[in-house]
Amino acid sequence: MCRHHGPPEVLSVEDVPAPELGPGQVRVRVGAAAVNFPDVLIIAGEYQMKVPPPFVVGSELAGVVTEVADDVEGVAVGRHVFGTMLVGAFAEEAVLAASSVSAVPDGVDDRTAAAFGVGHRTAYHVLRSIARLQPGEELVVLGAGGGVGLAAVQLGAVLGATVTAVASSPEKLEAAASLGATRLVDHRAADLRHALREQLPDGADVVVDPVGGTLSEAALRSLRFGGRFVTVGYAAGEIPRIPLNLVLLKGVQILGFQFIDFATHMPHEQRRDEAELMALLAEGRARPHIGATFPLEHTAEALRLVADGGAIGKVVIDVGDAG
Ligand SMILES: NC(=O)c1ccc[n+]([C@@H]2O[C@H](COP(=O)([O-])OP(=O)(O)OC[C@H]3O[C@@H](n4cnc5c(N)ncnc54)[C@H](OP(=O)(O)O)[C@@H]3O)[C@@H](O)[C@H]2O)c1
Repeated sequence: MCRHHGPPEVLSVEDVPAPELGPGQVRVRVGAAAVNFPDVLIIAGEYQMKVPPPFVVGSELAGVVTEVADDVEGVAVGRHVFGTMLVGAFAEEAVLAASSVSAVPDGVDDRTAAAFGVGHRTAYHVLRSIARLQPGEELVVLGAGGGVGLAAVQLGAVLGATVTAVASSPEKLEAAASLGATRLVDHRAADLRHALREQLPDGADVVVDPVGGTLSEAALRSLRFGGRFVTVGYAAGEIPRIPLNLVLLKGVQILGFQFIDFATHMPHEQRRDEAELMALLAEGRARPHIGATFPLEHTAEALRLVADGGAIGKVVIDVGDAG
């Protein structure tokens, strides 16, 4: 429970009344939930959408539907689902829009399903619909040890690209290599611009950037003529200012992606991507890397790990008897 804005440590674990079910909603007995970087920003009151305290934190979950509103069709009690919301997921029970939940494919456990939603959907939409990544292309992923980054590494490889992972530690790069990255760059060990030039003398086709800060311009400079740079987030805490002449001189495109309004602006692509991604999940070709798991009582520690950039892949909160 967040009773006032601040760092993750302001959170308290409390027994509170179960949330009320409204029209169009379903109630879920949560098995597992997963941490996303925006959770940290929402608690701090620094996210683009403000949530006035008090509120229960958490934006993605998996579990079993225990109640559906009268006007809901297509979601049945007992259904194993995963879903996303702005807040409310780090709890034994959550109430969310029926339209925000999807059926979990057979054989996928709650931890995997909870950790899948935001990272893999973001990465897949970015690669498939925004960058339009093609087999055989050179893909550079910044923040490649993080939730979005590791998903982009895995899905980039699935889509047939050669993946260069950029991260800050050998442990993060090892995780990226295990998911399909074949070129590894530790940006703490070397100047990123030079390291990328060495790894990719002919340049990259696509850069995925969930980090921002000083890494962005160096990565943009690694693009070859006609390359695409997708800005996804600013985990470094700094929104970079890019000299526009670089775009002109290199003939590259800088593109943006925002999860919350993607379905509104690109409904056809959203449906296609979702169907393809669910098939990859069911086949086991798309799987989140879970770097750490915490019990609900230790939610603040889980958020701290993500806030400090220390997480490898996804951080999961075990809520119930996560299968
Ligand atoms: N546009 C969208 O729709 C969308 C969707 C999902 C997420 N996002 C955004 O994408 C970003 C990454 O999300 P994520 O879930 O992948 O986060 P994450 O798992 O925490 O990974 C973020 C990565 O950023 C790097 N980083 C550099 N400086 C950092 C700092 N001061 N604090 C934390 N991380 C730092 C770290 O990589 P290295 O240590 O390797 O440098 C870290 O692994 C966030 O800003 C998030 O809000 C956007």
